[in-house]
Amino acid sequence: MTVNLSGDEMYQKLKTMLGDSVPDVELRYKSTLAVEINQLKKEKNAVILGHNYMEPALYHSVPDFTGDSLELSRMAARTDKDIIVFCGVRFMAETAKILSPTKTVLIPSPRAGCSLASSITAADVRALKQRFPGVPVVTYVNTYADVKAETDICCTSGNAVKVVESLGSTSVIFIPDEYLARNVARETGKHIIFPTPKAPRGAPDTDLDVVPLHADMIGWRGRCEVHEKYTVQDILDAREQYPDVVVLAHPECSPEVTAAADFAGSTAAMIRYVEQTSAPRYLLLTECSMGDNIAAANPDKEMVRMCSVRCPHMNEITLQDTLKSLQLTRYVVEVPEEIRVKAYRSVERMLAIG
Ligand code: 13P
Ligand code: SF4
Repeated sequence: MTVNLSGDEMYQKLKTMLGDSVPDVELRYKSTLAVEINQLKKEKNAVILGHNYMEPALYHSVPDFTGDSLELSRMAARTDKDIIVFCGVRFMAETAKILSPTKTVLIPSPRAGCSLASSITAADVRALKQRFPGVPVVTYVNTYADVKAETDICCTSGNAVKVVESLGSTSVIFIPDEYLARNVARETGKHIIFPTPKAPRGAPDTDLDVVPLHADMIGWRGRCEVHEKYTVQDILDAREQYPDVVVLAHPECSPEVTAAADFAGSTAAMIRYVEQTSAPRYLLLTECSMGDNIAAANPDKEMVRMCSVRCPHMNEITLQDTLKSLQLTRYVVEVPEEIRVKAYRSVERMLAIG
């Protein structure tokens, strides 16, 4: 635990973990911020949840719990603290509020969005339900609360296959990530279609013509702006340069990329895979900070990094803004109660699956 470390102890800890790549001047500065955050966290009876994509100095200094979306949702549901500071993106902080409505949930930056979450609206989901009546809706947690409220059950990258299988239904609406849906369809042996959007107002409505007679899975064309950028060629190039590299991909990558990789799984599953295997080197096809975080915690593991692909939203969250968040009790995440109650049901159903 880092919560009781003095400035010097925090600096030594970060120096040991990150000293190969981060200059002293920055480590000193960040250690001071981290100690202030940890003091304030105690005074205000707050808990800090940190997603696996947080930058290394933050990731290794202030969160009480780190993890993937699923693990952090579980922690948010369980905490007895008054304040949850969510070092992650907005949809994650909203999920914490949905699960812990009596807590004050803070996000350090109001700009930490997500291209998947903004790819679909509640009205889009209602329209899909009208077109495919009676078909259960599975929604990736990378969505906002009003979309979750229209949903039968949520899933994360860590449990998507299990959630779809738990429904025992021949047809499923799976939104909004096209690639996650395609990856799940492949694993569950389902046939997937992507119906075209409804015709614009005034134009002839021919959308039903494009719906094939047989579809096990109905998807949506949302994409993660980070994971969609990785290609099979990236994997081939990396393997040519490092023939012994083990490639891990997040299921938000295309099915071609996940098929070409050695392993595909959630951010937590990727971390576990690296920790539990002993390859000469690893390449993670996901937000680059995760490679830094794993390398810092496992100095014996060699991580190859492709850092030109970054998540601008996750990188909004800094130690400076986390401190301000606690000092000024900002930015408070609210979810209207009528939406929260409905969204809660779909998140809770997912958590009950285990
Ligand atoms: P995980 O649930 O695997 O942590 O993924 C969250 C995310 O946003 C991936 O881009
Ligand atoms: Fe959203 Fe992609 Fe960033 Fe994850 S990596 S928060 S899915 S934009």
